[in-house]
Formats: sequence, C-alpha cells, structure tokens
Amino acid sequence: MIIRYPSTRLRRRRQAPWIRDLTQETELSCQDLIWPVFVHSATKSIPIPSLPGQMRWCVDDLLKQAEALAMLGIKAIALFPVVDPIHKNHHGSFAFNDKNPVILAIQKLKQAQLPLGIISDVALDPYTSHGHDGLLTPCGQVDNDKTVTQLAQLGLILAQAGCDMVAPSDMQDGTVGAIRSLLEQHHCHHTLILSYTAKYASAFYGPFRSAVGAAKLGVHQAPSDKRSYQMHPGNTDEALLAAQLALSQGADCLMVKPAMTYLDVVYRLRTETQTPLFCYQVSGEYAMLKHYAQQTAADAAPLFYESLLSCKRAGAHGILSYYAPEMAKYIADLNATEQAFSKKTVSKHY
Ligand code: PBG
Repeated sequence: MIIRYPSTRLRRRRQAPWIRDLTQETELSCQDLIWPVFVHSATKSIPIPSLPGQMRWCVDDLLKQAEALAMLGIKAIALFPVVDPIHKNHHGSFAFNDKNPVILAIQKLKQAQLPLGIISDVALDPYTSHGHDGLLTPCGQVDNDKTVTQLAQLGLILAQAGCDMVAPSDMQDGTVGAIRSLLEQHHCHHTLILSYTAKYASAFYGPFRSAVGAAKLGVHQAPSDKRSYQMHPGNTDEALLAAQLALSQGADCLMVKPAMTYLDVVYRLRTETQTPLFCYQVSGEYAMLKHYAQQTAADAAPLFYESLLSCKRAGAHGILSYYAPEMAKYIADLNATEQAFSKKTVSKHY
C-alpha cells in the first residue's frame, strides 16, 4: 500500500473532538489505578515532606480515604508501613508485631468490606535499622535464603490478616515460591502474589526512602546501594528471565518499577508474557512532576494524565501512582464535561 500526501492527510482525523475521540487508541480510566499509601501507628495523619500532597496516614483516616477511593472507582490500595525508629532493629522484627500498622490497617480495611483490593508490600526495609530489604550477613550483604524464609512468614501473616494480594519487593531469589508454598500449606490459596519482577536499582526511590525513614548513607553504601539485589538499569533480557522464574513459582501478576524510564520493559513483558502486568510510577517520578508543575505554575493533572497514559500505551494493565485519587477525580471531571456537552448538543438538534 502506498500512502501519500495529499490523499492521506493525517490532520483530517485530528480536526474535531468527535473524530479524535473515535480514533483514540489508548484510554486511561479509574479502573487502571492503584494508590500506594503510607500508614503509621500514630493517632494523627501527617504530611510527607518528600512527597508533596501525600500523608503518613493513621489507620482511622486511611479507612476514610479508602472509602472515598472506592467511590471514585479505583480498584486497589497498596500499603506501606512507616515504623517508629525506636521499633527498628537489625532483623526488622517489628514486621511480625501485632502493632505493625500495616496489619492493623489490613484488618480494618477488610472489616469495612469495600470493593477495593488490598495489596501489601512484602520487604523488610521499613522495619530494619539499616534500611535494607532483608537480613544481613556479618559482612553486610543481604542473606538471600534467610531473608526469603523471613519474608514468606511475613507474606503469610499479611494474608491471614486479610490482605488480598501480597507484593514481594525485596528482589531476592525464590521469595515468590517460598511465599506461595507457605500460603498453600496454610490454605491461603486465594491470596494473589504480585511479583516485583523487574525492579530496577533506580535513583528515583529517594522520596519513598525518606517517607518510610529508611536511612540514607553514602552513595555506595546501604541502603542507597541496593545493586547487589535490584536489577541493573541497562537490562531487559534479565527482566524476561525474572518473569519466567516468578511465574514458575506462582506469581499471579508481574510488575515493572519505576515506570517512565522503563516503558520498553513494560512493552516487552506485556508482549512476551501472557500475564497481567502492573507498573509503578515511583516516588521520584511523582515528586519530579509535582515540582515541575509547582515551578512552572502548570496544572499537574494533564502532566500526570500523559505520563500514566504512556504506561497504558506501553502495555500496563494497572498502574500504581501516588497521584491515583487526583487522577481519578480528573478523569471523572473530564467525562462529566464531555457528557454535559453532548447532552447540550443533542438537545439542540433533536
Ligand atoms: C523497598 C521498596 C522501595 C520502593 C517500594 N518498595 C524502595 C527501595 O527499593 O529502596 C520504592 C517506591 C517508590 O519510590 O515510590 N521494599
């Protein structure tokens, strides 16, 4: 087929909203969104300086937020604990404490029976004094197999508290399989596993680490340096191998993280695996867009819309974004404006 100007003029399809809407290839909806949230044990919610607009929620406020979120049509909430430094130690033992704020939040959310999936992170970094995702060997490396055993226990506790989907983000080898077999042994076969398959050793996690209070040491020291377990930013074949491993161990969904700088990986995993795929617009991406909007007095919503739409276009089924509630409101407003407009034009003509 020969495509030539002027018989083909692409602007014909761009001239008015009706034809632009009809020919739009990818759409973003509230149903694509997951909201990552921070929960702490204090009785009041407090703002997170590194993530403008985000809070460390107390459990009661989080419940109210979750109700509002479900009304907006968002499908799931992803929980991260913020632990008081006095409760942190080398082994991250507070993860297993009854007072772990994530466990309390899961129990309350479950009781509320909202039409909202409850996802919980499985890693030790919010609980350890050193900020690594697992247990350390005497020479300071993360001990893969000991960590995996510990995380399987954490996955089970979260599932037993009522968590619908556990999301190991630790990047050790074998975590998914260890969690899956422990869940099976304890008859928790309904619990979904979201594997952080392609989690890159990224420079975009800074605001999250301040939010959960994971200490920041020198550039080549823990926990800024997690390169001995997170994936190298230059690799994509490795992401495919990791996906095969995760699926063989019982993962239900896969994740790519961060999002904007790894959309090629999203595309590859989507086309080369037959598995639902999520991506995570991480704290640094969120802060970057927020600060840009602030600095240039731009409206943040269209910036986020475009960036989240690009995740959909690359092939993500779901997107974790700190901006999710605001985006859901923005999408609802866009739809309402369009409906009001078409009602007006229809009544004028008929
Ligand atoms: C670690 C974890 C991290 C994030 C989610 N889980 C940080 C890290 O690997 O150090 C980052 C998320 C974000 O930046 O928004 N378990």
